[in-house]
Amino acid sequence: MPGAVIVGTQWGDEGKGRVTDYLAKESSMCVRYQGGHNAGHTLVVDGEVFKLQLVPSGILYPWVVPVIGNGVVVDPAVLIDEVDMLEGKGVDTRLLRLSGNAHLIMPYHQELDRMTERYLGKNKLGTTKRGIGPAYADKALRVGIRVQDLLDPKIFREKLDLALREKNGVLAKVYNRLPIDAKELAERYLAMVPRLAPMIDDTVHLVHEALDAQQWVLFEGAQATYLDLDHGTYPYVTSSNPIAGGVCTGAGVGPLAIQRVVGLVKAYQTRVGSGPFPTELLEGDAVGDMLVERGREFGTNTGRRRRTGWLDLVMLKHAVRLNTCTELALTKLDILSPLSELQVCVAYEGDDGTRYDHVPYHQSVLHKVKPVYETLPGWGVEIEKVGRLEDLPPCARDYVRFVEDFVGVHVSIVGVGPARDQTIVLPRAA
Ligand code: GDP
Ligand code: IMO
Ligand code: MG
Repeated sequence: MPGAVIVGTQWGDEGKGRVTDYLAKESSMCVRYQGGHNAGHTLVVDGEVFKLQLVPSGILYPWVVPVIGNGVVVDPAVLIDEVDMLEGKGVDTRLLRLSGNAHLIMPYHQELDRMTERYLGKNKLGTTKRGIGPAYADKALRVGIRVQDLLDPKIFREKLDLALREKNGVLAKVYNRLPIDAKELAERYLAMVPRLAPMIDDTVHLVHEALDAQQWVLFEGAQATYLDLDHGTYPYVTSSNPIAGGVCTGAGVGPLAIQRVVGLVKAYQTRVGSGPFPTELLEGDAVGDMLVERGREFGTNTGRRRRTGWLDLVMLKHAVRLNTCTELALTKLDILSPLSELQVCVAYEGDDGTRYDHVPYHQSVLHKVKPVYETLPGWGVEIEKVGRLEDLPPCARDYVRFVEDFVGVHVSIVGVGPARDQTIVLPRAA
């Protein structure tokens, strides 16, 4: 069945939004399957910049049905603001569908996210403080409130009362915060129903109708493989499963519905928030500072400076396995242009001298590994106007080929700038 997944292979912000926008042209549907408004996906179309948090990046094509799947956690006020922002820019959002099974992010989730981070002190995770973790925790605890509950005010109020009984206790007694008023909160959420109700749908059914009709359905990942709750650098992860397997639960399809898995790779590495980062260039490093400046490496969502480092092929190889990537999209190659030499990490060395060709499962080991680099020559000229593989400088082509050979997966797309037309499509070698 014609399902295609766009998945981040690093720690997020690889350019998933721009590649989703690029591939959506050939699709009939674009589905977000996990995460929430912790995501920040940037699209640049005809010089106009779109920053999306919840609405799928296929929204700009009038024939693409954008779907927020059951695996997403939704702050309804953020969703309405985003729809208004898009409408204000002349984008028709009427096809947008929202799963009735998606869970709601409530103000107490955001408050608890802020409080737990504060109490963790120097051990904080560096979350986006959007309430993501507490919302998924409530889902797992079976005390979450779902989008469909909004359609039955009596049920909604009952569930909210029950939830607040516990949450207010925690907020007041553990964190010394003011309790949240159930009545006021219920009215605030129910007031949004007239805007939300036309979007709410059985999205699993819609996805299967499209797949059955042999139409391409694009599943747009948010966050990334090493932020995955199960496979990332726990606890420095998000609370959902961004890996390609997350599509099955988060959108309601079986694994065989997925034909194509496009792994998104930034030509170097970035991370926002805490956690291990073997190839990190510490602040003050000239190359790191150049990557931040040229790559505008500040969070789309929170404005935080992203940590930067050299491309880590050990991580990439493992991500290719975890996601069964059938191809890769390599973005931001243009950012590396001024460098005369490039380092790529091909192995790790532990503090006892052990060489690792794979990501060590034990985090204490991962924290301490030193990267083993291979040095590749830079190309030294700007490439943002290059439209074809043949026109890339030979050293840039070699960089792409090195990645392909190392991980054994074809690079099908290269990004040389943020705009739609700064995308080089690479045919598979015969
Ligand atoms: P996402 O979260 O994976 O969708 O990525 P973000 O949108 O958070 O971050 C990627 C940033 O890089 C955005 O500002 C994009 O406009 C920009 N970008 C994406 N691809 C390229 C590229 O090939 N070259 C350059 N220079 N910028 C890019
Ligand atoms: P996109 O989709 C980069 C990071 C946060 C933090 C950790 C947990 O734009 O790639 P959370 O708020 O999810 O509980 O925070 O995950 N994080 C991201 N980093 N890109 C993202 O999304 C992210 N979403 C969450 O910085 O370290
Ligand atoms: Mg982002």
